Amino acid sequence: MSDSEFDFIVFGATSFVGKILCAYLTEHYSDGSVKWAMAGRSATKLEALKTELGEKANLVPVIVADAADEQQLTAMANQTNLIVSTVGPYALYGEPLVKVCCETGTDYCDLTGETQWIAQMLDKYQAKAKASGARIVNCCGFDSIPSDMGVLFLQEKAHEQFGHYCYRVKMRVKAMKGGFSGGTVASLLNVAKEAAKDPALRRTLTNPYALCPANHPFFARQASNNKAKYDSDFQQWTAPFVMASINTRVVHRSNGLLEARYGKNFLYDEAMLSPSAFKAKAMAYGLGAFMVSAAVGPLRSAMESLFLPKPGDGPSPDEQENGFYNMHFFGETATGQTIKCKVTGDKDPGYGSTAKMLAETAIFFSQHSNDEKDSCTDGGFWTPSTLFGMPLVERLSEKAGLTFELLTD
Ligand SMILES: NC(=O)c1ccc[n+]([C@@H]2O[C@H](COP(=O)([O-])OP(=O)(O)OC[C@H]3O[C@@H](n4cnc5c(N)ncnc54)[C@H](OP(=O)(O)O)[C@@H]3O)[C@@H](O)[C@H]2O)c1
Repeated sequence: MSDSEFDFIVFGATSFVGKILCAYLTEHYSDGSVKWAMAGRSATKLEALKTELGEKANLVPVIVADAADEQQLTAMANQTNLIVSTVGPYALYGEPLVKVCCETGTDYCDLTGETQWIAQMLDKYQAKAKASGARIVNCCGFDSIPSDMGVLFLQEKAHEQFGHYCYRVKMRVKAMKGGFSGGTVASLLNVAKEAAKDPALRRTLTNPYALCPANHPFFARQASNNKAKYDSDFQQWTAPFVMASINTRVVHRSNGLLEARYGKNFLYDEAMLSPSAFKAKAMAYGLGAFMVSAAVGPLRSAMESLFLPKPGDGPSPDEQENGFYNMHFFGETATGQTIKCKVTGDKDPGYGSTAKMLAETAIFFSQHSNDEKDSCTDGGFWTPSTLFGMPLVERLSEKAGLTFELLTD
């Protein structure tokens, strides 16, 4: 086992989501069972956060590092087994830390949902991560843990019941309540801004296999769901789901890393269920209008200054507490057997629930060192389901307020 000073360091402790994460860790893990530290660019903000967290946080060490300073990042990486980063937009600030982790063999996980950035990091650092043994796991929040682990859960149950995996799976958001933070909005707007001026990046964003391993065998045409549609499997109208663009890429990467376990023609798509055709169309037009406005400079600036949350802002404690989500998965095997399950989370998806998912994933990650060698503990870029498998489903169910349940209707 490693003799690092820390199990993990939370980098970006003073971000909106980082503060919720640190509050959760302080509340549940200040008994010495987990050795963790808070890091960020400002000593003053970190000390203020410690004061805010109260007496239980007194012994949590604080580390100052700027996301652009490789020396400081290397010094931080050398003190720990794992860095958990909430410093975003990742496309603006994330690369130096990924580089340092891949070079020093330090494990890393984050909350990014920025497909184009992950694709760039894969291209640049996969070989380095393999060589150093660093395991890099992006998307450890609402995007994309419920989708990625939900598909794993459904497929494992299908295999147990039918002896086969499903060749097609759909995820439909049945109900969800939550809001957006300034950091998430900044990340979304930055993607729209970069895509508006770069055709290659637009191709990456529209490619369902953008994050699949090089030379993957997948060519099946995937449903795009960017319009309102009637879904005969769910017998309900559906509208586009904003997180589908990252979640579907992560699920296809998982299938790729598992050597096409779910089939070379595996189909996976996501959408939101809607009570009526009218509401589905209104939601589709609303999202379309937002995406078009985000791509146009002056409209983007107007939205930013008029009504979107600023970096550091986000849903109130009440909104976090009263939020939730309920996602239904439908799968069909090649011989026509069907199976359904649901994944739910208490608290709002992007913050209350995301902070718990990230904390519990980080603890699980830090306790499973790559000394325990099997094919999935090698260095490289993993997805949550391929690195952690069903034991993470158990941990999230036990500790993070998620449920994974087969449906029998
Ligand atoms: N996957 C999910 O479900 C999910 C959910 C929530 C959030 N997110 C993502 O998580 C990220 C954080 O969101 P948020 O709303 O918490 O963001 P935020 O409040 O705007 O925080 C951004 C953080 O980045 C830090 N930062 C910026 N430049 C830095 C630098 N040069 N060196 C070190 N730190 C620097 C800021 O430091 P200061 O505190 O010192 O200003 C701040 O802590 C975003 O990318 C968002 O999209 C994903």
